[in-house]
Amino acid sequence: MLDSSLPEDHYVIVALDFADAESGLAFARQLDPKHCALKVGFELFVAAGPSLVEALVAQGFRVFLDLKFHDIPNTVASACAAASDLGVWMVNIHASGGPKMITAARQALDRQTSGTVPLLIAVTVLTSMDQQTLQQIGIAGKIPEVVDHWAAMAANQGCDGVVCSAQEVAAIRAQNKADFLTVTPGIRLPEDAKDDQHRIFTPAQAQAVGVSHIVVGRPITRAQDPQAALMKFYTAFNRA
Ligand code: C5P
Repeated sequence: MLDSSLPEDHYVIVALDFADAESGLAFARQLDPKHCALKVGFELFVAAGPSLVEALVAQGFRVFLDLKFHDIPNTVASACAAASDLGVWMVNIHASGGPKMITAARQALDRQTSGTVPLLIAVTVLTSMDQQTLQQIGIAGKIPEVVDHWAAMAANQGCDGVVCSAQEVAAIRAQNKADFLTVTPGIRLPEDAKDDQHRIFTPAQAQAVGVSHIVVGRPITRAQDPQAALMKFYTAFNRA
């Protein structure tokens, strides 16, 4: 069983954005679990289900189950407990679910008696949302203020970290404990295609602002040699 404590090196989390179990598992077999964790999101989980997650865990991977739970506290607590039973390393919830929902998730994970307790991560403002969208759903604050507020609330309710943009990491790190995790997508090497990401950071820039875990998808999943591509990110992120 893997230890879920913060690894000494900072993790590269590979986004396993595939349409079915066979493709996801075939791809994962090309990566060394020593050098990355794997993120399973809606697309793959809806298609392939919990058995895919268990298969990845059995292959020795740390799995980030990226299902962004957001519901009444009791339902989110049960979902977190079910995720923990699958042996995942990290699970996430929406900070906007509020303190009671987050506390219920924390308590459900702390009640787990078998295996390792997954890291609990809160999603702050989705990077796909702009100021106008936030206003449209009735939130008046500026995006950076809302992100900082939700990150502090998540930390107070026992979350281990947040998903956020690398642009927001410096402020979050300044306001929270040193071991509070920041999980950030939108990462590219200078030579990579941006794809549909707008505000990108390189692994070295992410490291410099204090990101603890980078999430990388297409530059690794579409590479001819995925392990070699992973090692470029791993080395650049852990170098400084
Ligand atoms: O391929 P790419 O590196 O852009 O993939 C990034 C991954 O991170 C995808 O799984 C995407 O859904 C996820 N993500 C993101 N931006 C967010 C939140 C999640 O790119 N704000």
